[in-house]
Amino acid sequence: MDTAVLDAMRRRRSIRKFKDQDVGDEAVETLLEMAMYAPSRLNKRPWHFLVVRNPEVRRRIARELHVHSFLEGAPLLIAVAAKPEVSPTWLMDVSAAIQNMLLAAEAQGLGAVWVGAPGTAEWEPVETVLREMLAIPEEVRVVSLVAVGYPAQEVAPHDKDLHFDRTRVHYERWGNLRGLDMQDLQEEYLQHVRGKRGEAPKSVALEKEEDLAMAEAEEKIRVAPEVCAFVDDDHLTLTLEISLPGVEKDSINLRMHADSFALSAPRQGTNIEYVAAMAFCCPVKPEEAEAVYENGLLRVVVPFKDLMEDAVKIPVK
Ligand SMILES: Cc1cc2nc3c(=O)[nH]c(=O)nc-3n(C[C@H](O)[C@H](O)[C@H](O)COP(=O)(O)O)c2cc1C
Repeated sequence: MDTAVLDAMRRRRSIRKFKDQDVGDEAVETLLEMAMYAPSRLNKRPWHFLVVRNPEVRRRIARELHVHSFLEGAPLLIAVAAKPEVSPTWLMDVSAAIQNMLLAAEAQGLGAVWVGAPGTAEWEPVETVLREMLAIPEEVRVVSLVAVGYPAQEVAPHDKDLHFDRTRVHYERWGNLRGLDMQDLQEEYLQHVRGKRGEAPKSVALEKEEDLAMAEAEEKIRVAPEVCAFVDDDHLTLTLEISLPGVEKDSINLRMHADSFALSAPRQGTNIEYVAAMAFCCPVKPEEAEAVYENGLLRVVVPFKDLMEDAVKIPVK
């Protein structure tokens, strides 16, 4: 396996402080070459790139963006633009090109940061200034800027423990989480406890026993699980799907009334407790509810009550 690209992806971070050193034409051309290797729908390649070194333009844009004074310190700005008429996916296409450019910067020992996005309030005046100063035609949209230079700051590379979030990965269907073994859960929980104490995450083995003992003594952390409720086509049953990864079936405490349900379930090996409650739109028959827990998902199907079932005849005087 060639790991060079993977390493560049791990190392790539947003750089906002630059050395007073120009970026050579050759390096810039490589950035743009890589940008243009990006995928685009139907290979329409709707992008345009404006290479800006002019200090006056950089100053004006930096002023316009207020908080982004670091732009002034970047020796090079690349304004990324597109013609929306070329493709309805222009925004996605140029985003892929920008990401390629950021990785190409990393690979060449340069630092870069993606700045601005259309549709945000602070971007509109910047786009207007760029349009004016760089003679950009009406039919062209400026999507973002990429500030580039030699880095004058060190930012730690991305780290799997900190950034790879298994709860965002669903296998085969929503809510099916995998790979959350006991050690991961403990580690995740310890990070949470340390975060609450305001400590930076420590190295993995450090004070694990002690931390776990403290965690045990702490109050339970209540977490609201995802709950999805839907009615069948004939409006006869209500189905609830509740995402409860990592719990023991027998530890699920589910209670239901005609008009609501409440649930609690501890997540194994942690102090996390899932809690959920919901009021129903119409009364149900809880005594006929069926609940099945499988692959981290609790599915409850309950029939609606016939609305006239308990109707009382009122004598009319
Ligand atoms: C669409 C988009 C717009 C962004 N705009 C800005 C911006 O205006 N200013 C800025 O400092 N960073 C901006 N960023 C960079 C993000 O802040 C940065 O990527 C994020 O915090 C993650 O950090 P990392 O790039 O070091 O991994 C933007 C990123 C994206 C994808």
